[in-house]
Amino acid sequence: MCGIVGYIGTKKATPILINGLLRLEYRGYDSAGISTIEKDGLSIMKDKGRVKNLSNIPGIDDLEGTIGIAHTRWATHGKPSKENSHPHMDNSKSFSVVHNGIIENYNELRKFLGDNGYTFYSETDTEVIPNLIHYYYSKDNNNDDEKLLRAVRSAVLDLKGSFAIEVISKFDKDNMIVVRKDSPLVIGTCEDENYISSDIPAILSFTRDFYLLNDLEFVVLSRNNATFYDKDLNKIEKDTKTIEWNASAAEKDGYEDYMLKEIHEQPTAIRETIGSKLSEDAPIEFDELNFNKEYLSSLNKIYIVACGTAMHAGLAGKNAIEKLCKIPTEVDIASEFRYRDPIIDDKTLCIFISQSGETADTIAALKLSKEKGAKTLAVTNVIGSSITREADYSIYTHAGPEIAVASTKAYTSQVVLLNVLALYFTQILGCGDAKLNDLKKDILDLPRKIEETLKVCENIGEFAKEVYQEHDVFFLGRGIDETVAKEGSLKLKEISYIHSESYAAGELKHGPIALIEAGITVISIMTDSKLVEKTVSNIQEVITRGAKTLVITNQKVDQKMFDKTIVIPDTNPFISPILSVVPLQLFAYYIAKEKGLDVDKPRNLAKSVTVE
Ligand code: AGP
Repeated sequence: MCGIVGYIGTKKATPILINGLLRLEYRGYDSAGISTIEKDGLSIMKDKGRVKNLSNIPGIDDLEGTIGIAHTRWATHGKPSKENSHPHMDNSKSFSVVHNGIIENYNELRKFLGDNGYTFYSETDTEVIPNLIHYYYSKDNNNDDEKLLRAVRSAVLDLKGSFAIEVISKFDKDNMIVVRKDSPLVIGTCEDENYISSDIPAILSFTRDFYLLNDLEFVVLSRNNATFYDKDLNKIEKDTKTIEWNASAAEKDGYEDYMLKEIHEQPTAIRETIGSKLSEDAPIEFDELNFNKEYLSSLNKIYIVACGTAMHAGLAGKNAIEKLCKIPTEVDIASEFRYRDPIIDDKTLCIFISQSGETADTIAALKLSKEKGAKTLAVTNVIGSSITREADYSIYTHAGPEIAVASTKAYTSQVVLLNVLALYFTQILGCGDAKLNDLKKDILDLPRKIEETLKVCENIGEFAKEVYQEHDVFFLGRGIDETVAKEGSLKLKEISYIHSESYAAGELKHGPIALIEAGITVISIMTDSKLVEKTVSNIQEVITRGAKTLVITNQKVDQKMFDKTIVIPDTNPFISPILSVVPLQLFAYYIAKEKGLDVDKPRNLAKSVTVE
């Protein structure tokens, strides 16, 4: 979705802003723009298309300002165009604003401003903001240092919806004001400079010290200061948080694409996520949680709620929690959960999984669960993200920044963390048996086995070459393998634009088999010894109908039957998705490469989906 960058310091702002926008490209966008404070007032440059177009606008290199705001827009209100691009100014060209989010009551505000003589030049919801600021600024007769802050506050309190906003003004050439509500925004700080961004990786090369903002906290930023206010404009104190990620984690590091790099980072991501929580001979530790036996035994249900890939990780979490702890667990898509009136009370634990911690539907579902009395637990990769500020408890995957839109290392880290969590619950409940020690050992051995899996996948690109021109791919599996089939299918759709479906293998003959014919590829995952023969029979049916087959397995199968078989290392079924998904990630990757597509920034998609 939209991306925001800001700079206030001693250097020329424009190159820093452009660099920041380039680093936010992965979020998805269709236009870009910047505004800086120049000697003679505010400058604004913007256009539809890539950041490259923006940096080619004549005169952009001549901008001297050391304070500026910048934006990549992902169109919601109004088509991608120069007029609709951000920043937006008020009619008098005194205030420049960039905004990420949606102003739900913008029609009402437009009418109010129209009645007060304001004209609109774009179709966006955002354009009401600078005009509202102007409206309040011109009504305020006090010309003190906080005049701009007061005007921004009054305008912001009129807004309904979600927003992260940066404001600069020709009336205050030394400050910038930022505020957020339900949309991401962080402030990176270092000597004589402050950086603003929608997310941490974009400014990680400048600083690792960040201020994290709560909803409706206003910040006045100068070159060497950040002053924080609550929504009533009382000053508040805030400490910085030092982020452990290093700058190179947000670079490609010699890989052709972030996605490929992130696939290969999975052994490290898993190792870091397990961290010191799990060891062979000590009890599992979750310092962040204070669940006891009485609480866990009282639970009538656990809901796991998430979107996309994170929801697929939730399915593996359900499998572990139900089988190990015997607590009924349901997995829901956040956008459905929030509107389906789920049965929740104080005996329900709701777990929300989100790599970014900023997904609007997931956050809304979390808020709903809290209102209904459930305890809420966030599983996320980003410290200080919105979801962690809302949830009662937060636990972290330590996958490092994930830049490619298609999630890979976040998924496997989520699956491992949910398994460790399930083991932790069994430890508290006292319901574990000796077999759990084997699971612990297998989890600890995962990084090595992912390395091995990456090796056995080395020639999957060859198979991708054979099938990349096909139009339909089916992913099949039974039990835990079906959850991986779903993830494999999503990966392929996202980055290769090939139509794909995933099915429980046994469902095939209840309808979808009608679609199977020559020219269709069927990929099946078979890691469960009890189910492998049944899935092989299903595959036999598709072979008979002319489909090409790829099998991912750790079982003994007659490889001659299939066009390609990838044998992955054997492991405990609870964590088998962490290995079996790797060939599927690579398959999707190589198909997209064969088609010459931009794997890291697939069309129409955004890395963090901050609107409904
Ligand atoms: C994954 O490849 C997708 N880009 C998408 O499904 C993603 O997992 C989903 O939007 C949820 O994002 P989150 O984990 O940041 O909440």
